[in-house]
Amino acid sequence: MKLILLGAPGSGKGTVSDALASEFKLKHISTGEICREEMAKNTAFGTEIKQYMDQGRLVPDELMIKAVDSTITGKEDYILDGFPRTIPQAEAIEKQKIDAVINLDVPEAEIIKRLSGRRMCSKCNAGYHINYFKPKKEGICDKCGSKLIQRPDDTPKIISKRFKDYNTKTKPLVEYYQKKKLLHTVDAAPPPEVVRKSVIGLVGKLNKK
Ligand code: AP5
Repeated sequence: MKLILLGAPGSGKGTVSDALASEFKLKHISTGEICREEMAKNTAFGTEIKQYMDQGRLVPDELMIKAVDSTITGKEDYILDGFPRTIPQAEAIEKQKIDAVINLDVPEAEIIKRLSGRRMCSKCNAGYHINYFKPKKEGICDKCGSKLIQRPDDTPKIISKRFKDYNTKTKPLVEYYQKKKLLHTVDAAPPPEVVRKSVIGLVGKLNKK
């Protein structure tokens, strides 16, 4: 299956993608993760995108489309987390024959709580939340024992810029995929285990079709 996960910043795309990837043996392709890794490695791409990432702005389409093109071989089953985010990006992957687009619907007030409480492992990038996904030992990653940090774009000022870009550039994709009859909207406001169950149930049904 080839799936796309749509949703506002902090709606749970990464969390849901991890669950779907392990349940259905899909490759998890997160464009945010690709960008952060390239920045950490100081590659030419990483240096070029840093100014956009630091400001919470979208990376220009031509750069992002090139990065995704070189990641997808076309033969594997995958879940795309964070791509496409604009109509030109969606048009660029038309040839991929996407099976379904899952749209995570969460009220903005809940999202603010999620983003402000999110913590990431400084080494292996595992995700946590100070209330919803607590590590066993405060501030320490369960998986590799490294220190947990707050993502630099999870500050109130940058979060509001990310929302602005989401509302103007990404939200139109809901209608775009609705017209193509690929869109499935899931109520992603409930706790993680409830969202996980409903998304796995939905994809299980789609997989049997
Ligand atoms: P990216 O990393 O994709 O950021 P984002 O879309 O803003 O999404 P997040 O990673 O913040 O949140 P999420 O929806 O994955 O939620 P999560 O599961 O972590 O992109 C970062 C930047 O890269 C962009 O701003 C842009 O600059 C650039 N970029 C990336 N792709 C691009 C593209 N295609 N084009 C241009 N630029 C691009 O959950 C959030 C928190 O909530 C966590 O703490 C989690 O534990 C918790 N949580 C999750 N689910 C639940 C639940 N059900 N209940 C309670 N808590 C929950």
